[in-house]
Amino acid sequence: MEHAKLFEEFQLGALTLPNRLVMAPMTRCRSTGNTPTPQVAQYYGQRAEAGLIITEGTSPSPNGLGYPRIPGLFSPEQIAGWRRVGQSVHRAGGRIFVQLMHTGRMGHPDNLPAGAQLLAPSPIAPNETMRTEAGSQPIPVPREMTESDIETALGEYETAAKNAIAAGLDGVELHGANGYLIDQFINSASNQRQDHWGRTVEGRSRFVEQVTRRVAAAIGPDRVGIRISPAGGFNAMVTDEDLTVIYTRLARSFAEVGIAYVHLVDHSSWGTPAPDPELLHAIRQNFTGALIFCGAYDAGRANAVLVEERCDLVAFGRPFIANPRLVSKLKHGRELRSPDFDTFYSSGDKGYIDYPLD
Ligand SMILES: Cc1cc2nc3c(=O)[nH]c(=O)nc-3n(C[C@H](O)[C@H](O)[C@H](O)COP(=O)(O)O)c2cc1C
Repeated sequence: MEHAKLFEEFQLGALTLPNRLVMAPMTRCRSTGNTPTPQVAQYYGQRAEAGLIITEGTSPSPNGLGYPRIPGLFSPEQIAGWRRVGQSVHRAGGRIFVQLMHTGRMGHPDNLPAGAQLLAPSPIAPNETMRTEAGSQPIPVPREMTESDIETALGEYETAAKNAIAAGLDGVELHGANGYLIDQFINSASNQRQDHWGRTVEGRSRFVEQVTRRVAAAIGPDRVGIRISPAGGFNAMVTDEDLTVIYTRLARSFAEVGIAYVHLVDHSSWGTPAPDPELLHAIRQNFTGALIFCGAYDAGRANAVLVEERCDLVAFGRPFIANPRLVSKLKHGRELRSPDFDTFYSSGDKGYIDYPLD
């Protein structure tokens, strides 16, 4: 079979994946009231052929719901919604991790529930705009997190991870990439704190290391992965001044905790810098769990990086939107449908659950 390695089994933590194709996390803004609807369950069930589904970014906190209609995982209704999603995927034979994404400063107060606030390591606005129901609006300056806000946020991650397991999901991916809260602590552009949560490499690593440790202790390290984007560039991140030092340190910390995987984002197809090959090598050397690559892969390139053993799994994003049965299509070399960009973040079923299954 062509691209044979892509369709081989892989043991990821406690899960046996039937293939090495991961569905990348994609925000689709269909969770009205920040709660996954029956349509969300149907959408993921349609894509259960993936070796592993990683869901859209899902907030552990009311403060992390920065975009319109993204889901949370902190209320009883949200847990019930996610239970329906897990059942739909499992019934169809799949496996599913929920991506925990606290948006931090990347949000707008109009998108947040009553009483919630835009919080970040430092009071620095990203100089970007945010989609809201009233159109695009400039992102305001976030409130600098106090020691007690940080402790609350850490607890929220821990509780959300427990909620994921209570809802019957298979694990969680911590969103440490793309300029959201965890990345805001790591990156020197957004973390200018002078206390022990910032300033030094050790300080900027503290939040992500604590989240990882606490979540792993709560649900078991083999049910935890983390997504990182060392090359930065997205959501006003800069290439970190201590890039190699900080990410080599983090790879070692993740290995020490024993989490199942590190998921590396390469968004260079969207114009951000490509990750430095030497840094990727350093991460591979220092992290002993599985490595996932993601970013504009096709079957040929994905199979090649697997054969070269540069990573263990490859995540596909956009191709999964318009091709629910992407695995079968790639296996049989069938032509892929192109997704409709206008319905990526819209509401309703169109461009969401109405793509043909074959
Ligand atoms: C509609 C859409 C929503 C996305 N939402 C998320 C998200 O919630 N969390 C995340 O880590 N990445 C998100 N991404 C990035 C994808 O996971 C992936 O890294 C990116 O699409 C590159 O992979 P691809 O070239 O195979 O599409 C999103 C991408 C798209 C197209």
